[in-house]
Amino acid sequence: MSDIAKLQIGEDSYEFPLVKGTENEVAIDIKSLRGATKGVITIDPGFKNTGSCESAITFLDGEKGILRYRGYSIEELAEKADFLEVAYALIFGDLPTQEELDKFKKDICAQSLVDEDIRKIVDAFPKSAHPMGVISSLTSALTAFNPSTVNVESEEEMYNAIVKIMGKFPVLVAWTMRKKQGLPLDYGDCSLGYVENTYKMMFKQPNQDYVTNKIVVDALDKLLILHADHEQNCSTSTVRIAGSSHAGLFASLSAGISALWGPLHGGANQAVLEMLEAIKEDGGDTKKYMAKAKDKNDPFRLMGFGHRVYKNFDPRAKIIKKAADEVLNDLGVDDPILEIAKALEQEALNDPYFVERKLYPNVDFYSGIIYRAMGIPVEMFTVMFALGRLPGWIAQWKEMRLNKEPIGRPRQIYTGENLRPFKSIEKR
Ligand code: SDX
Repeated sequence: MSDIAKLQIGEDSYEFPLVKGTENEVAIDIKSLRGATKGVITIDPGFKNTGSCESAITFLDGEKGILRYRGYSIEELAEKADFLEVAYALIFGDLPTQEELDKFKKDICAQSLVDEDIRKIVDAFPKSAHPMGVISSLTSALTAFNPSTVNVESEEEMYNAIVKIMGKFPVLVAWTMRKKQGLPLDYGDCSLGYVENTYKMMFKQPNQDYVTNKIVVDALDKLLILHADHEQNCSTSTVRIAGSSHAGLFASLSAGISALWGPLHGGANQAVLEMLEAIKEDGGDTKKYMAKAKDKNDPFRLMGFGHRVYKNFDPRAKIIKKAADEVLNDLGVDDPILEIAKALEQEALNDPYFVERKLYPNVDFYSGIIYRAMGIPVEMFTVMFALGRLPGWIAQWKEMRLNKEPIGRPRQIYTGENLRPFKSIEKR
C-alpha cells in the first residue's frame, strides 16, 4: 500500500499522508484538508469512520474479537492479574514491579479519605436520586476540595491527582450506595486489597462483623478488569475532549461518568436486567421481545446486544458469561434470569435480523447477573462500570495531556436559514 491517499474534488486533486499503527491500522491524515481545499471538510455522524487520536493504551479488533490493554490480552489479564495491577499498566504503560505496585497502593491509601463536608453534599440528595447523577456530582465536587488537581502540567502533579481520585472514588461509590440504603457512611481499611476494601465499604453492616467472601471479591476484581478501558468509546471520548480544554481531571471524569450513564452505553447493564426482569414477568416470552427489537416502529432494542466496533463476539462477554455460571454456582444462587438470558442469546444468535447485522452479546449482557448475585442494587450497576473504567479514563486523559493534543473543536455543515433581515415583533 502506498503511503498517500488521493482525493479528487471537481477538477482538483489532492494528496494526504497515511498514518499506520503498530497493528497495521491505516488512517488518512486530513489535518491539512480544509486549508488545502479552501474550506472542504469531512462529516461522519457518530464518528463511525473517524479516528480522534493516536493512542498506545488499548487495542481492539472488532472483526476478530480481540481486546488488549498495553499489549496484554484481556483473557490473560482477567485470569492472571488483579485490578490494581491492570490500572497501573493502563495509566503508566506497563505492568508494575512489586515495588511499584506497593508504592502505588500506599499512595492511593494515603488519599483514601474525603473531606467531611462531602457528607453534606451526599446528605442533600434525595434517596430516590439515581446513583450515576450522585457519583458524577460528587466527582466534580471533589475538585472544590482538591484545587491542586486542576492546573496540572508535570507528570508529578498528574500523579498526585491520579492517586487522589483512585483513593477517593471507591469511597464515593460506597457512600452513593449506602445513602440510598440509609446506612452510615464510613471509610475502608487500607490493609485490605483495593477491590476487597471497596466491597467492604459498600457492604459492611454497622451491627455485625464483616466477613470477606473471596468468591465475590475475586469475581468483582475480574469484572472491573474487563471494564477498565475500551479505547475511544463514548465516555472516554468525552473525558478526552473535556480534558482537552485543560479542565481538571476530576471535572473531565465527571463528564465521562455522565456520558456513561446513557442506556446505549454503560447504562445498558441496568437496562439489560430490567429487560430480563420484564421478560420473566411476561412468563419468559423471549419471542415477544425479539419481535419488538426487530420492529422498526418500536424504539425497544435488545439491551446488551450489538456494538459499534465488535462485529463478532465481545471477548469480555465470553469471559463474563463463564464467570456468571461459576459465581452463581459457587454462591449457590439459582437465578432464573440467567436462564432467560441464555435463551435470549441463543434465539438472537440464530435470528437472521441479528446475524445479518452482526449483533452479539456485549459486555453489559451478563455483567448485571453477577452484580445482582453479589447483592449490588440494579441502579448501582453503571456506577460499578464507572469504577472499573476509572483507570482507563485516567490513562486516556493523561495520554491526551502529555501528547499536548489541541482542544477538541469539531467543524459542522450549516443547514439553517440564509441571511435574513430582523423582523420586529409586530411583523412576525
Ligand atoms: C458499551 O463503544 C464501546 O466500546 C462501548 C463499550 C465500552 O466498553 O465502553 O463497549 C460499552 O456501551 C456496550 C454497548 C451497550 N449498549 C447496549 O447494549 C444498547 C443496545 N445496543 C445498541 O443500542 C447498539 O448496538 C449500540 C449503541 C451499542 C451500537 O449502535 P451503532 O453502532 O450506532 O449501530 P446502529 O445503531 O447503527 O445499528 C445498526 C443496525 C440498525 O438496524 P438497521 O437500521 O441497519 O436496520 O443494527 C440495529 C439497528 O437498529 N441494532 C439493534 C441493536 N443494536 C443495533 N437492533 C436491536 N437491538 C439492538 N441492541
